[in-house]
Amino acid sequence: MKKVYIKTFGCVQNTADSERIKTYYWDKGYEELEDWKKADLVVINTCIIRESAENRAYGLINKVNKFNTNQKIKIVVTGCLTGVALRDKSGKKLNELKNRFPMVDEFLSIDKVSYQIDPLRNKRGAALIIISSGCNNFCSYCIVPMARGKEISRPFDEIILDAKKVLDQGFREIVLIGQNVNSYGSDFSDKSDIFVHMGKKRFRSLFPKLLEEVAKLKVDKVSFLSSNPWDFSDELIEVIAKYPNIDRLLHLPFQAGDDEVLKNMNRGYAKQEYLDLVGKIKKNIKDVKISTDVIVGFPGEDEKAFLETVDVCKKIKFDIAYINKYSPRKGTVSAKLWGDEIPQSEKKRRWKILDDLVNKKILS
Ligand code: 5AD
Ligand code: SF4
Repeated sequence: MKKVYIKTFGCVQNTADSERIKTYYWDKGYEELEDWKKADLVVINTCIIRESAENRAYGLINKVNKFNTNQKIKIVVTGCLTGVALRDKSGKKLNELKNRFPMVDEFLSIDKVSYQIDPLRNKRGAALIIISSGCNNFCSYCIVPMARGKEISRPFDEIILDAKKVLDQGFREIVLIGQNVNSYGSDFSDKSDIFVHMGKKRFRSLFPKLLEEVAKLKVDKVSFLSSNPWDFSDELIEVIAKYPNIDRLLHLPFQAGDDEVLKNMNRGYAKQEYLDLVGKIKKNIKDVKISTDVIVGFPGEDEKAFLETVDVCKKIKFDIAYINKYSPRKGTVSAKLWGDEIPQSEKKRRWKILDDLVNKKILS
């Protein structure tokens, strides 16, 4: 059998995609191995959410190429870097990539790797089930809509079948995955069923229903990633409260505490609305813990604005915060409108303050 090495950068969606990619190459006669130097094929599943992630992918392409003097190894690049290039209708971005990396044999679209293939799942831990991909939100800093396109939900029954199948295979835990997991199904729900939540008009999501159906199965724990505050409806809170096998650690990114910064991020809620939402969640779901994502150093975030973020962290007492230094991404609104004005040293300082406060529990 030929050997494939798969390197995954980025989020849990990419991890789940890599399981499908593994099957895709299995079907073509490849088995996976751990040592890329002995591989016939190296597949790099890329992330471009921040410049640092993008650079890691470039670093690996160059490293493999340097070693590959006899051209024995084929290199395939997939994931979000490829996604952005393939979605550019003019073909310019793909050409740029091809010219910059002539050693890459193929830029593989993840859309070519169907959901119909049964992923070769990582047997350890929870079974990852993708329920939707793409995102319609256009947070001003975020490259994901350009990389993964608009939100497309998988059919409800197909997901339930997948959940039953993994439980039959012996998994005890399930993670439901989507870029905007709790707006699942709003692309095919009744378009007249609009409601206003946190000041935004939303199509009703089928996520509470889906989560409930999965929680009713014989499963020890169901988790879901990542939620947006404005799709965290009362109906969803009710479902979580009702089923003790739904994970009590909820991931709910807030990104920033200052209202002006939130507006410029196009997050569509104010600080107080986020605090109220978490208050409601804590009141209705016993023993709930919250983790979050934060961005420090977004354009226009002065000291006063940053202290609003600190204030949210103090008030909510998050379990974990994933703190990200702002990184302008070409093609996003924030990169077009504003410069990257906060120096790296200042971003680091803010990162440390939040890390000490939330993750190391050091109170100043
Ligand atoms: N710069 C820094 N962090 C970012 N994130 C998304 N885009 C950027 C960016 N341009 C962060 C957000 C998001 C997480 C997945 O990555 O906090 O929730
Ligand atoms: Fe990175 Fe976003 Fe792509 Fe996930 S969806 S791999 S975070 S760019």
